[in-house]
Amino acid sequence: MPHRPFIVGNWKMNGTRAQLAEARAIERGAARHAGVRVGVAPPFTLIAAMAEDGQAIVVGGQDCHAEERGAFTGDVSAVMLKDAGAGFTIVGHSERRAMHGESDAAVKAKAEAALAAGLEVIVCVGETEAQRDSGQAEAVVSAQLDGSMPRDESAAGRVTVAYEPVWAIGTGRVPSAADVAAMHAAIRGRLGVIYGEDGAAVRILYGGSVNAGNAAELLAVTDVGGALVGGASLTADSFLSIVSAAGTSEE
Ligand code: PGA
Repeated sequence: MPHRPFIVGNWKMNGTRAQLAEARAIERGAARHAGVRVGVAPPFTLIAAMAEDGQAIVVGGQDCHAEERGAFTGDVSAVMLKDAGAGFTIVGHSERRAMHGESDAAVKAKAEAALAAGLEVIVCVGETEAQRDSGQAEAVVSAQLDGSMPRDESAAGRVTVAYEPVWAIGTGRVPSAADVAAMHAAIRGRLGVIYGEDGAAVRILYGGSVNAGNAAELLAVTDVGGALVGGASLTADSFLSIVSAAGTSEE
């Protein structure tokens, strides 16, 4: 594994200020696992408070707009995330792609805006169940990478890919270790085409129903550099079990 494992919580549209107590507990737990990099992407409304509270975790956005400012009611720019204390943002989550119609080109523009604002960026890709069943999973993910990855020259070191099969998100179902290994190898190959030698520096996370029970096995798969965790990141107990599994999977 080229870097410390990166375990990122995606809180989605969950959490009011009451949830800051849980964030503090995550922060305290993360401080005991220096070998693991821990991130949390709360709703926009909690970013500033969490960023002020914690040094042991990096706080991130779940999306950003491609423009810096302007007449985009309801949107938040990467510059604003950075200003609020975020260190990274997720872009292209399958829920955004499906429910907000985000194309690969839109995701790429957001990723480039995030990098330009000085954020790291996590670009999500993943196939649907029908695409996997018809043998197209790797082709679909390769095409998403081609269309969604930022082409900023300094990109590779600040870019992470999250491979999240759509059918595994929130379902309790996970691919086999062999399928995860095959897909991560395919992603690594495609990153080499996109970034040349620098493609080796891009971290690849697995996401989709990661929990305390399956984290160790998933994190031990070759070229799994961490996890993007939804449901199991909402309580410090379950999230920190995953952080601790990442600590023991370090090479
Ligand atoms: P899940 O979500 O862990 O609840 O499956 C993962 C994600 O959507 O990032």
